[in-house]
Amino acid sequence: MEILQYVLAARPTGLPSPENFRIEKVKIPGLKEDEVLLKSWYLSVDPYMRGRMNDVKSYAASFEVDKPIRGGVVAKVIESKSSLFNPGEFVVGMLPWATYSIEKAENLRKIDVHKIPPSYYLGVLGMPGFTAYFGMTEIGKPQKGETVVVSGAGGAVGIVAGQIAKIHGARVIGIAGSDEKCMLLKGQFGYDEALNYKTSISLRKELANICPEGVDVYFDNVGGEITDAVVANLDFNARIALCGQISQYNNTRPTVGPSLLPMLLTRSVLLKGFIVSNYSDRFGEAIGHLTQWLDDGKIKYHETLIRGFDHLPDAFIGLFDGKNQGKMLVVAE
Ligand SMILES: NC(=O)c1ccc[n+]([C@@H]2O[C@H](COP(=O)([O-])OP(=O)(O)OC[C@H]3O[C@@H](n4cnc5c(N)ncnc54)[C@H](OP(=O)(O)O)[C@@H]3O)[C@@H](O)[C@H]2O)c1
Repeated sequence: MEILQYVLAARPTGLPSPENFRIEKVKIPGLKEDEVLLKSWYLSVDPYMRGRMNDVKSYAASFEVDKPIRGGVVAKVIESKSSLFNPGEFVVGMLPWATYSIEKAENLRKIDVHKIPPSYYLGVLGMPGFTAYFGMTEIGKPQKGETVVVSGAGGAVGIVAGQIAKIHGARVIGIAGSDEKCMLLKGQFGYDEALNYKTSISLRKELANICPEGVDVYFDNVGGEITDAVVANLDFNARIALCGQISQYNNTRPTVGPSLLPMLLTRSVLLKGFIVSNYSDRFGEAIGHLTQWLDDGKIKYHETLIRGFDHLPDAFIGLFDGKNQGKMLVVAE
């Protein structure tokens, strides 16, 4: 059987470009025992994949040049040589960027696509949702009446993180890269305030104006100058959930910024970096809470769906230009 797949053509320097990816037509073999043949449906593009394109030691193994890119995929079982799955069932797993793939059954999780939209397993009820849940509830720990700031607020993790803070009774301020995203944050996702960092003359001063008593929790998705502006406004005993640093992922050399650690020291701030997999034994708890909040209407979710398998590279590159509102996904057609 012939399929299409994307391989890493070359490691990027700086912002990835379409030349870093190559689409190939390849033949896949027949199934062996305990394997299943899958047809990709929703393919996830995520900022962490930029790190995997580099040849450096990190918490996740690097992609190999000339080998398929892999990421979160929701797929349909077409054929099965495993007692765990039947044709017609749906699964989620870390699969190649391919129209069809063969995978060991033990690496897949069966999903119910009748009660829950299948794409949610890659978003609010998947890795980004769990990240928002654990970062906010385990590190941020917002209390009633406290002020929470979320950067990258209009993305997959950010929209959920802010809504969880609202559920805990906090006042929530989002920072995002367009007026449209800021309107969505306030209109759809219950944020109290939203600031557009691309048009702001001084984010530090704007935050000082709307947070006169300081920021109690900062959920950081982006790093860089945005984080410098928030840190300058932290209150005593603030907590920083250090989730992501997307503004730095395409840097070719480390940036030099204000040295802010003395502020953390003198204000007794807790700063904790985390990787969602640190909490993998508690994903069931996160699914339980997030599903309940969705059912109760306390959490709303949003996706940017790009149709067409061949748009995978553009969708991924678009993350670094803010092309997505909520979770960015490619629908294979
Ligand atoms: N710690 C973990 O386990 C974990 C797990 C998942 C994700 N993360 C991290 O969390 C962050 C958000 O992930 P996500 O999946 O929710 O991504 P996402 O928000 O869906 O997509 C990335 C967003 O980042 C913003 N952005 C891009 N370049 C930027 C820059 N230079 N400065 C400021 N903002 C920029 C863009 O929105 P604007 O329009 O606002 O610029 C873009 O839409 C990422 O840093 C990711 O690596 C961490």
